[in-house]
Amino acid sequence: MNKVTVIFPATSENEPFARSVAAAFCMRFDPTLDELSDVKTAVSEAVTNCIVHAYAGMERGDVRMECAADGSTLHITISDSGRGIADVARAVEPFFTTLEEEERSGMGFTIMQTFMTAFSVESRPGEGTAVTMTKRFGAPARGEERRTAAGGCTDRNEGAAPAGC
Ligand SMILES: Nc1ncnc2c1ncn2[C@@H]1O[C@H](COP(=O)(O)OP(=O)(O)O)[C@@H](O)[C@H]1O
Ligand SMILES: [Mg+2]
Repeated sequence: MNKVTVIFPATSENEPFARSVAAAFCMRFDPTLDELSDVKTAVSEAVTNCIVHAYAGMERGDVRMECAADGSTLHITISDSGRGIADVARAVEPFFTTLEEEERSGMGFTIMQTFMTAFSVESRPGEGTAVTMTKRFGAPARGEERRTAAGGCTDRNEGAAPAGC
């Protein structure tokens, strides 16, 4: 499987970098703008959690982002070696946040779940957290056009060969 790993300090200036790397990795899937935007949003939420929560009250460490391509599926793991999450089931609930005073929405995990095909969180208190997400590309609804971000090529899902490419 083709895999790219980047490791960077958990600082807010690196969040747009991580988002762009993930988007660049996805270009091989010939994504639609919507698919690309879904991945960027999910990555942004996961990396922001590493920046905001993982190293709170301790020395700031790194974020590790692994992107892998398996056919037309992206597998992406974003992990930290920070404080971890004691109760993952509770943390992934909509509107749950431990940083209410900083007016965080508590919707990060919900957004990741909504925008990606699959999502899971593994965490050990005192050791860190890993969020694994997958995104399946190129599944047009029947009869709908699939316009890719690169432009110029649309597939119509009518069971026939792609038209107009
Ligand atoms: N990487 C992480 N390390 C430690 N705690 C985390 C991490 N990611 C999320 N959490 C915990 O899970 C909660 C919910 O996360 P999320 O849904 O993104 O909401 P928010 O970031 O707005 O609080 C956070 O408030 C935090 O307590
Ligand atoms: Mg969050």
